[in-house]
Amino acid sequence: MTNLRWGLLATGTIAAEFAAGVRQSRHGVLTAVAARSSERAREFATRFGVPNAHGSYEDLLADPEVDAVYIATPHALHAEWAVRAAEAGKHILCEKPLTVTAAEAERVVDAARRHDVFLMEAFMYRLHPQTRRLVELIESGAIGEVRAVDVTFSFDSGANDAARLADPALGGGGILDVGCYCTSLARLVAQAATGTAVAEPSDVTGMARLTGDGVDEFAMGLLRLPGGIIAQLSCGYRLAQDDHIRVYGTAGQLHVSTPAWTHEMRPPGVSTLFLTRGTGEPEVIEVEATEGLFIREADHVARHLADRQSPELTWAETVANMRTLDRWRAAVGYGG
Ligand SMILES: NC(=O)c1ccc[n+]([C@@H]2O[C@H](COP(=O)([O-])OP(=O)(O)OC[C@H]3O[C@@H](n4cnc5c(N)ncnc54)[C@H](OP(=O)(O)O)[C@@H]3O)[C@@H](O)[C@H]2O)c1
Repeated sequence: MTNLRWGLLATGTIAAEFAAGVRQSRHGVLTAVAARSSERAREFATRFGVPNAHGSYEDLLADPEVDAVYIATPHALHAEWAVRAAEAGKHILCEKPLTVTAAEAERVVDAARRHDVFLMEAFMYRLHPQTRRLVELIESGAIGEVRAVDVTFSFDSGANDAARLADPALGGGGILDVGCYCTSLARLVAQAATGTAVAEPSDVTGMARLTGDGVDEFAMGLLRLPGGIIAQLSCGYRLAQDDHIRVYGTAGQLHVSTPAWTHEMRPPGVSTLFLTRGTGEPEVIEVEATEGLFIREADHVARHLADRQSPELTWAETVANMRTLDRWRAAVGYGG
């Protein structure tokens, strides 16, 4: 396999983490980076040893030495740059959520299909062995028939640290930023429990605390999923809660206190799931991740490039997740 030549589109917090991952990957090499200013691009290039620094995203897409782009702008810019990347013939790993709305996600998928490029939403938690083990346990019937899911991803960004998160023009709000993991995980559980390829809720309700601009500071949601599974979701950027996953079945429950999307799960290491059968004591299940999550993600893209989609997260699944997010935001009155 030849090395996949990566170009980074934006130089923010997560772009720096992904850059470090690509540098340690087996099948990837960082060839270019772009920022909205040449100075910022050069500074990032120096920090990570990237050969080409571009002062505009357009220049990155015109760079013949770039095979794949990693889009790490605020959500509201994902659709435009993903479509333009596809038109430029670049493979795409785009940060979550793929877009702001499901209609935009469909346009991005359509562009990837027409221009025959790889496309994946960067839900790296899907690639973590902890998530795989959770799915296997559910599929094996370890907790009987799944009845309910309870999932929380919620943090307090602090008053001075929330520009992207609070701005409606940038796709602000907890639902789009971290609630997308909750809907994704709840749907994944329903898929594992029922054998459905793409699980989508029949009912979506919710409530949120909204800013004056109609952005959800924190939100709760309820989904009715295939198999009659009910999921309760909690997310936010202005409310520190304990992140967790709990899956309840007719014969027991599974508990993950440090889900694979948390910062602690990014480096290699051992994570823990708790399996309780009936009324017994929880059984501790340890799962080892032998490599960092962003290294794994970069290599996953390289390995599945020819398939154009990831087997762990298909285009149909991404669009279904975006539809669920549309409905959750509508239910809480997002936008005022
Ligand atoms: N997978 C994960 O674990 C994870 C974690 C955090 C964030 N994310 C996702 O990654 C994306 C970026 O998040 P982040 O935390 O890295 O954000 P950030 O630190 O604020 O960086 C955003 C970058 O986007 C670029 N940008 C382009 N247009 C912009 C605009 N109008 N306003 C502000 N920035 C603009 C800027 O780069 P230049 O100045 O370099 O052009 C900036 O550095 C989001 O979609 C988020 O959901 C994913």
